[in-house]
Amino acid sequence: MAGARPLSFARPRFTRLMSELTDSPAWRALQAQAARLRVRRIAALFADDAQRATRFTAQAAGLYLDYSKQRLDAAAFAGLLELARQQDLGGWIARMFAGERINATEDRAALHVALRAPRTARIAVDGRDVMPAVHAELERVCSFAEQVRDGRVRGLGEAPFTDVLSLGIGGSDAGPRLVCDALAHQADGPRVHFVANVDPAPLARLLRNLDPARTLVVVISKTFTTQETMTNARAARAWLVARLGEAAVARHCAAVSTHLAEVRRFGIGEERIFGFWDWVGGRYSLWSAVGLPIALALGAARFRELLAGAHAMDEHFRCAPFSENLPAILGLLGVWNNNFLGLASQVVIPYAQNLERLLPWLQQLEMESNGKRVDRDGHAVDYATTPALWGDVGTNAQHAFFQMLHQGPAVHALDFILPLAPSDPALAAQHRLLVAHGLAQSAALMRGKSEEEVRAELRSRGIEGAALEAALPHRVFPGDRPSNTLLLPRLDAFHLGALLALYEHRTFVQSVIWNVNAFDQWGVELGKQLAGKVLEALEGRGTPPDPSTANLIERVRDAQAR
Ligand code: F6P
Repeated sequence: MAGARPLSFARPRFTRLMSELTDSPAWRALQAQAARLRVRRIAALFADDAQRATRFTAQAAGLYLDYSKQRLDAAAFAGLLELARQQDLGGWIARMFAGERINATEDRAALHVALRAPRTARIAVDGRDVMPAVHAELERVCSFAEQVRDGRVRGLGEAPFTDVLSLGIGGSDAGPRLVCDALAHQADGPRVHFVANVDPAPLARLLRNLDPARTLVVVISKTFTTQETMTNARAARAWLVARLGEAAVARHCAAVSTHLAEVRRFGIGEERIFGFWDWVGGRYSLWSAVGLPIALALGAARFRELLAGAHAMDEHFRCAPFSENLPAILGLLGVWNNNFLGLASQVVIPYAQNLERLLPWLQQLEMESNGKRVDRDGHAVDYATTPALWGDVGTNAQHAFFQMLHQGPAVHALDFILPLAPSDPALAAQHRLLVAHGLAQSAALMRGKSEEEVRAELRSRGIEGAALEAALPHRVFPGDRPSNTLLLPRLDAFHLGALLALYEHRTFVQSVIWNVNAFDQWGVELGKQLAGKVLEALEGRGTPPDPSTANLIERVRDAQAR
């Protein structure tokens, strides 16, 4: 279009050749360290330092971190600590714990640590102590959960609740779902079922099998306007009303939200509404009333244990020197692997089937927090921020994508997570096998298998000459692939709380180094806006956003008309 101003999509606020970060002394020093270490084999670093296997370890809240298999030595580690000092990590931690409005683009504090602090703590936002309200709401959640569990709170026909349908998405789903799954071996309350997707299939499947007279519906949404959650909530409400009558809404529904007016409009009574605050980000919210499904499934005492474990990690993060500080070390290693060694992605492998849901929770935590292209001041960054984070549980993952991790051309950073005690003592030997696999994988990734070793192995099997030469390159493992190993004494509420808080703070540490705001998520808005427009176009109103989408909409409309 003649005269139209070109749209600008990549405009940094000021045109700069380099950001302050990449031009800084600590950054440059680390680039030199990386150049020096890139040509060393990790396994060889053990020969330089007899104490390495124990020196590069740290522990807190019962969790033990071994980072000796990283491409790192004392000088590079000192450089990372200097980067933390340069980026004022200590100051940012203090500001977060003090309730300052560090989420500047939303003008909010990020105070999830207050949700797991003891009653005696003093934490204020704008000079007002938030702890009395935090504990009052926690009491309400725990008391309601216990009354449902012991049958004092019942359905319309006085039947006890045997099932809970938890409706939420993103942070209003992933955290409670993860905890309920992870601690399923300790669940002793009603069965909790989670539905997040607006795809009607999972809700329909559940509603077919649930008895409305014995089902409690919990709607969890910070805003209480999220389309997916509200669509599922209306469908569940209609299901209850159709079978039990309008009075069922008050008796069979509860809600968790910061927007109480919206919840009231839905028809849920005050005593069934559990609140939290705008200073709790969705992906950091499982510690608030959003954890109601956890208290229902596992009991108030276990929910409090979870909070206690997270608080223990908070205190460690707030007080421990960075050289011994688990979240600081994990965050700095993330930056080291991503920005200085150029590793392709971050992979997390829990050796615990019950931690399967850790991955989606971690993905939202890390990638919604740090998937940013501008820094706190709106300048375009000239360095990578979060890498893709992905993974699956061991040993399943070994039979899927580990081939690529061992022999693919790109090197990925790995975290192995191993609970040491079996969830069922009767199967201790089987659990030992699981742990053996986890430890073996990290060892194999580091040491690899040399040409000489493969040659000797093939010869021992009688393979020689051209056949040997042809087989050789396919069987060599380059090794030299770094990993962390995190040991948990057992998968219980306390250590799970500590583990999740550890990763939350790791994410924060990285955001501080990258100078991005970890607590907003503007990147999810555009798709939501366009979904509204596309729906209008699908229904024959409104204009599709572009020719490709117009074509697809036409095909959908054709298929629906047939
Ligand atoms: O995906 C965007 C997001 O805002 C997440 O940050 C949040 O966890 C999720 O949607 C759900 O939001 P709500 O709790 O308001 O329904």
